[in-house]
Parts: sequence; structure tokens; C-alpha cells
Amino acid sequence: MTDRNGPGAHLLVTGGAGFIGSELVRRLLARRDGTHVTVLDKLTYAGNRANLAAVEADEEQAARFVFVRGDITDREAVAPLVTAADAVINVAAETHVDRSILDPEAFLRTGVIGVHVLLEAVRREQDRARAGERDSSPRFLQVSTDEVYGEIESGRSVETDVLAPRSPYAAAKAAGELLVRAYHVTFDVDAVITRGSNTYGPYQHPEKLIPLFTTNALEGRALPMYGDGMQIRDWLHVSDHAAGIEHVLRHGEAGEAYNVAGGTELPNRDVIARLLAATGRDWSIVRRVPDRPGHDRRYAMDGSKLAALGWRPRMSFDEGLPATVAWYRDHEAWVAGTKSGDWDAYYARQYGDRLAAGQAVDEAG
Ligand code: NAD
Ligand code: TYD
Repeated sequence: MTDRNGPGAHLLVTGGAGFIGSELVRRLLARRDGTHVTVLDKLTYAGNRANLAAVEADEEQAARFVFVRGDITDREAVAPLVTAADAVINVAAETHVDRSILDPEAFLRTGVIGVHVLLEAVRREQDRARAGERDSSPRFLQVSTDEVYGEIESGRSVETDVLAPRSPYAAAKAAGELLVRAYHVTFDVDAVITRGSNTYGPYQHPEKLIPLFTTNALEGRALPMYGDGMQIRDWLHVSDHAAGIEHVLRHGEAGEAYNVAGGTELPNRDVIARLLAATGRDWSIVRRVPDRPGHDRRYAMDGSKLAALGWRPRMSFDEGLPATVAWYRDHEAWVAGTKSGDWDAYYARQYGDRLAAGQAVDEAG
């Protein structure tokens, strides 16, 4: 075993074929510092090997990269991978709030049982380290979300706030975090937690607001705005999110959670206006549709705890959003691949009735 911060470290990234996980993997390998990365990914509808194509096409990076298709709830698949790891970064999750409303069970399986399986595997390696069978215990990093705080009317959530999730997705994420904390307190597992803001950028599945509205606008399709569109999110570029995760892995204190805050709070209407401008469309394609049940009105986090460790977001929304739109415009085949499989059935289920009941909306509301 090597130091997780040192050259030649072996990192296990679960969910590494998804949006944020693949950004993290590309980032870790592109540094060419000898780091080895193993991805364990189930390849659900959201997982995509194409997100790792750049790594696999580069001989030097590919030599330090292993992809394993498997489920984090599968003890037999997980155990040997954790044995070989200096750190485990759990990025795997079911991630879409709307799907968690349609069908919550998979969220609990991956978000609770899966986290437990990983923690047990880490605990076993800790026991082996204590018995002298390996040099050090693996660190465990749980990637979580600002949604565990629930909506916040004013001010900003700080890490010590009570967790008050309001959707099945957020509840599963909070449950996963609580298990991580319990394993740190009870078994002294070396664990840290990150809570990221709403993330955007290349390679995000088009079910989420920014890629859905970007790709629909490029295709000339309707943009389904939930309710009055005045819900507020704090946007974080995926490169900053991945950098924040890595920063906490290397510098975070065991047992602590860290907000990875974007610092760009915007109502959805403002995001939509910017997307219309970037795609050359106008408000005529926007439809006001019935709201998401239990829709959180606002998320906002205080990022000072992680700033004190030396991390801050670098990519401004003014720069990051048009670059993201340009990426989707230039990656038609990738988009077509993600809008396949169960996509049409999902779209009809989620948006069919909503769009039928939709109303015209203009810039003024
Ligand atoms: P994503 O949906 O793009 O990717 C999730 C990945 O996990 C996919 O590759 C999928 O195949 C894999 N996966 C799912 N279940 C699995 C299982 N049981 N075993 C192994 N792999 C499995 O998600 P994302 O947007 O990249 O989010 C990654 C993480 O970041 C999640 O934990 C999410 O809660 C958190 N997060 C996301 C955001 C955001 O805005 N996207 C913000 C804050 C936190
Ligand atoms: P989303 O990208 O699903 O992230 P989250 O729900 O985790 O914040 O949604 C971002 C915001 O955009 C949220 O307020 C819901 C809204 N939204 C729409 O108005 N229409 C849509 O079709 C989607 C997917 C989201």
C-alpha cells in the first residue's frame, strides 16, 4: 500500500462512469503523477463508458486505469477492490430527484445498502492494517449533496446544520451520510464527506435542468419549466466539484463534512434566459408545467469551511455556461446515446401530462 496522497496511490472511484465521477477520473489520471484509478460502476442508464473514452485512448493513462462493471451493493465485487485501494471515493448513486419521486427503491438500495457494503469493506481493511497485514487503512470519501439540508429560505447552510431532506433522493443521500458518520464514530473509520452544490458542465446526463434545456433548445423542443421557475439553485462547475472532492480527500479531517459551494445563486428563470441566449432561442419554447411535488425552493451553502483548507471555485457561471452549451452542441452523438434506451419512456412518463397541461410563459412571467 502507498500513501493515498503520494505518487503511485491506488484510488477506487465508484460511479466513475457518471458525470462527476468521470470528471474526477479524467482529472486524477491527466496529472500523470503515477496515480492508479479503478472504477467500479454498475453502468445504470446514467453510467456511460464513453465518458471515460479519453482516458482509455491515452496509452499512459490507460495503463493506470481499470474499469470494473459491478454494483456497490455486491460484497464479493467490492471486497478485493477495497483491499487493493489506498482510498475509496464513493461517487455512485441514483441521482435524479424526479426519478426518485417516480421510483424510490433503487435510491435506497444504492444510497444506503451500497454505502454500508463499502463501509464494511473499508472496516475490514482497517482491521487488516491493525493486524499488520497492510500498511495503512483506506480513507473513505462519501460524495453527498446540499440537498441533505433541505430547502433554506434565507441565509446559507453550514455543515453543522440539521439534515432535513425532503425528496426520496435527498433522504437516501442523508441516510448514506449518517452511516458514514456512524462508522467513523463507532469504528474509527477514516471517513470524510463532501456536500456539493448543483453541478453543471460536459458529460451530464440530459435528464438534469441544464443539459435537458440545452439539448431540447438545440433540437427546437419545448423546455418544461416547473411551476413559477423562481426556485433558486447555487451552481458549481463540474471541474470545481471534482477539485473540491480531491481537496477534501487530501486535506479533510476525518469525521468531518465539507460544503463544496458554487457561489452562484440563480433562480431557474435566469438560468433559462441565459440558455435561450446561448442557443439562439426565445421564450416561445418555454412551457410552464405543473410543479415537482415537494419542490425545494432554494439551496444555498456557506463554503467557508473548505475555503479555510484552501479550495475555492475557479470557473465563473458567465464562462462555464456558454462553454457547456458549446460542448453539447459539439457532441451530438454523445447526446443521442444518452437520449436512448429508456429515455423516451421516461420522458413520456415525466413530461407527457405536464407538457399537455403546460402554459406559455414570457420573460416577465
Ligand atoms: P450520475 O447519475 O451522472 O452518475 C452516477 C454513476 O453511478 C453512474 O455512472 C451509475 O452507473 C453509477 N451507479 C449508480 N448506482 C450504482 C451502483 N449501485 N453501483 C455502482 N455504480 C452505480 O451522477 P452525478 O451527477 O455524477 O453525481 C455523482 C454523485 O455526486 C452522486 O453521489 C450525487 O448524489 C452527488 N452530487 C451530484 C450533484 C449534481 O448536481 N449532479 C450535486 C451534488 C452532489
Ligand atoms: P435538477 O437539475 O433536476 O436538479 P435538482 O432538482 O437536484 O436541484 O433541477 C434543477 C432545478 O430545475 C430544480 O429547481 C428543478 C428545475 N427543473 C425544471 O424546472 N424543469 C425540469 O425539467 C427539470 C429537470 C428541472
